[in-house]
Amino acid sequence: MSRVYNFSAGPAVLPEEVLKEAAAEMLDYKGTGMSVMEMSHRSKAFEEIITTAEQDIRDLMGIPDNYRVLFLQGGASQQFAMIPMNLMKNRVADYIITGQWAKKAAKEAEKYGKVNRIASSEDKTFSYIPDCSDLPISDDADYVYICENNTIYGTKFKELPNTKGKTLVSDVSSCFLSEPVDVTKYGIIYGGVQKNIGPAGVVIVIIREDLITDDVLPGTPTMLTYKTHADAKSLYNTPPAYGIYICGKVFKWIKSQGGLAAMKERNEKKAKVLYDFLDQSKLFKGTVVPEDRSLMNVPFVTGNADLDAKFVKEAKEAGLENLKGHRTVGGMRASIYNAMPYEGVVALVNFMKKFEEENL
Ligand SMILES: Cc1ncc(COP(=O)(O)O)c(C=O)c1O
Repeated sequence: MSRVYNFSAGPAVLPEEVLKEAAAEMLDYKGTGMSVMEMSHRSKAFEEIITTAEQDIRDLMGIPDNYRVLFLQGGASQQFAMIPMNLMKNRVADYIITGQWAKKAAKEAEKYGKVNRIASSEDKTFSYIPDCSDLPISDDADYVYICENNTIYGTKFKELPNTKGKTLVSDVSSCFLSEPVDVTKYGIIYGGVQKNIGPAGVVIVIIREDLITDDVLPGTPTMLTYKTHADAKSLYNTPPAYGIYICGKVFKWIKSQGGLAAMKERNEKKAKVLYDFLDQSKLFKGTVVPEDRSLMNVPFVTGNADLDAKFVKEAKEAGLENLKGHRTVGGMRASIYNAMPYEGVVALVNFMKKFEEENL
């Protein structure tokens, strides 16, 4: 068996310990004589899996009792519709546009109401986070929406926007569980798990209880109503059971590493190695202003598309995979999520040094 360092933006690297445990339990989960993939979602064994998973993420994030944790499907993209369908009572929402995912979310919300784009960093190819300390928040906005970590561009909100009392909704797909958060600052925190937590197919929505109501937009499908899933404890229909099981194992793994404060420390240490190298390199250049850099996604370029392609190819040959930037921006991107070991980032930087010597 040989494993590569996988810098994919998602689906992405998972902790090896978790994969080994899952492999060991594949044929017989804890004496049940079957795989978690094969068992009823109404079984006692699965009930324990989902209950434990919920408790563990509650412990990790310090989720208060007046928030519910929902394990849903449909990808993060489905939330782009589900959020306005459930929250747009006045049919107005404010969106902060810091990349393609926020843009897509805003466009989807426009199907349901008026969307005010109250700030944007598109003028500089989303290479920074706009100042959000005093934005023109709409009086009748039902919520303010952000994408907290911009997977494609490599920016991260280091400070949450001043929503002037309005409900904050945040897509944390690419920074989920990467550092401590104050859940009370949000109405909804949600993300697809396929970057930092588990296999594609599960979306975790952490939602304040007062936002869970029957008062949704007319025509909202049962499956797209938060209340349906909250009332049924995420078991209204067959949930993505195996994915939830893996998420649960990753929560335990994060706990064993020391929780979110320890994750932050590890992630800062890893990111520093790469950013420090980029800041002094004569060949490679980071594309984000230093103060808004993500700890999770690190885009960089040489400024020459042919050289970028050569780098990606040779890196792959050296066991450093999935370094090609998003198809809309080109260049390179190293995603260094929780499960990427420090050694992986060091290996990448060493390879970049060698490539620089050979190609400058
Ligand atoms: C920040 C962010 N939001 C949303 C999405 C879309 O997620 P999904 O493919 O689960 O719909 C992605 C996917 O990469 C993402 O990075």
